[in-house]
Amino acid sequence: MQLIRQGAEAKLFKAEFEGKPALLKKRVPKGYRNKELDERIRTARTTGEANLLRKARSLGVNTPTVYEVDKGEKEILMELVEGPRLKDVLNKKNVGLCRQVGEGIALMHENSLIHGDLTTSNVMVKGKELFFIDFGLGKHSKKAEDKAVDLLVFKKTFEATHVELMPKGWELILEGYLAKGGKEEVLAQIKKVEERVRYH
Ligand SMILES: Nc1ncnc2c1ncn2[C@@H]1O[C@H](COP(=O)(O)OP(=O)(O)O)[C@@H](O)[C@H]1O
Ligand SMILES: [Mg+2]
Repeated sequence: MQLIRQGAEAKLFKAEFEGKPALLKKRVPKGYRNKELDERIRTARTTGEANLLRKARSLGVNTPTVYEVDKGEKEILMELVEGPRLKDVLNKKNVGLCRQVGEGIALMHENSLIHGDLTTSNVMVKGKELFFIDFGLGKHSKKAEDKAVDLLVFKKTFEATHVELMPKGWELILEGYLAKGGKEEVLAQIKKVEERVRYH
């Protein structure tokens, strides 16, 4: 199998499933963690990620289809999304993608799904559609605080990497968020969290 990426906690291989190109995500041991704890964390993230990929998909958020989960090997075999990462394509000409990101996040949040690691590397672009990936740190929560933090993680990576080309990008993301039912309460909570961070 061909290694296509070495992520922060996993190796990603190009694979096959029933004759179709697929992607194998394998969580590899972290030497610095206690062995049993490491095993438990990798199992939990593998099963958690597979469940949330399926849940998000059932809500109408594009995610790769999960083909197989192997708890013992800490592997998920899923659909290969053939396209670039959002990170690699965001520019002035496709600001519409920002709105779409906001819409996708709102759909998740309105159904109590927190992604947990929203970055422009964890969103992929295929044609005109966005695919959300990397749900290993995701969870269920109805709390405005958790939703605000989810959005703030994205805001930080977005501002660190893309703000020069897209000064209005973040506003468009929030526009999409509100348009799909995301709550003002969550946006107000973002401000509170930001103030808390600033003054402590
Ligand atoms: N289903 C997929 N199809 C195509 N590429 C993928 C897929 N899943 C992950 N990748 C690629 O591998 C990278 C790392 O995968 P990710 O699930 O984000 O793992 P990590 O937890 O290590 O960040 C992604 O940024 C993307 O480039
Ligand atoms: Mg990732």
